[in-house]
Amino acid sequence: MTLLIQDEYPEKLFRDDGKRLDGRDPFELRPIKMEVDVIKNADGSAYIEWGNNKIFASVYGPREVHPHHLAKPDRGILRVFYRMATFSVFDRKRPAPGRREKEISMIISDCLEPVLFLELYPGTSFEIFIEVVDADGGTRCASTTVAALALADAGVPMRSLVTSCAVGKIGGQLVTDLSGIEDKAGEADLPTAITWFNDELSLLQFDGQISQSELEKCLDMAKDALDKIYSMQLDALKRKYIKIQEDAENQGGATEE
Ligand code: CDP
Repeated sequence: MTLLIQDEYPEKLFRDDGKRLDGRDPFELRPIKMEVDVIKNADGSAYIEWGNNKIFASVYGPREVHPHHLAKPDRGILRVFYRMATFSVFDRKRPAPGRREKEISMIISDCLEPVLFLELYPGTSFEIFIEVVDADGGTRCASTTVAALALADAGVPMRSLVTSCAVGKIGGQLVTDLSGIEDKAGEADLPTAITWFNDELSLLQFDGQISQSELEKCLDMAKDALDKIYSMQLDALKRKYIKIQEDAENQGGATEE
């Protein structure tokens, strides 16, 4: 029997054929699947599979703020709750939200807030609940991307969507979209997010060491990746409305007969 030990990282993060350990080229994204309207009891929802990450987001609002003292008389508030399931990682994760989850919730909220018209919803809240059921690196980026999709699915007015993806450096090479093992064993990880209405980065974190010219190259790589993921988000939203239209046409046909 082979025992997997979480803290054992491979010595090399590239194979002899130049590909990454999961077979990707340096600038290649992991496979990404997205779907909206997946949770009946939410005002809006979305699901993403991004490599081995599996994440749900549910949106509620605008609605009354609980606890009341958090309400703001002149604007609405956005509350984000990012949680990782106990079974989502190799080591059992303690069920209570830790410091990391609170930090990531805050980051996601900061990424999304610029696209919302919170000033139009005084005294109310929008809440986003994010559940990571399987985690393998880049969950803050996948969560931001799927949360933006859930907001759009809820019909919340938005200036634009928000898209997020990490870039970084592993084994001496710049790469796009680090997996869990690459995140841990690599030299640098830069999660980024963009608000499309003004083309501005609403997230740029940095963990590790790279040169200034590598940073510039990383930002170009991030822009390419963000463009690709954005079109997947738009496709996921379009699919919902195409299905509604097809269902309506089929029902119309059934009535005419
Ligand atoms: O997920 P993200 O890259 O945004 O955040 P991170 O804090 O850099 O975590 C990287 C990865 O470490 C996560 O995606 C998980 O796969 C893993 N992790 C874990 O195994 N156990 C935890 N308690 C937290 C994270």
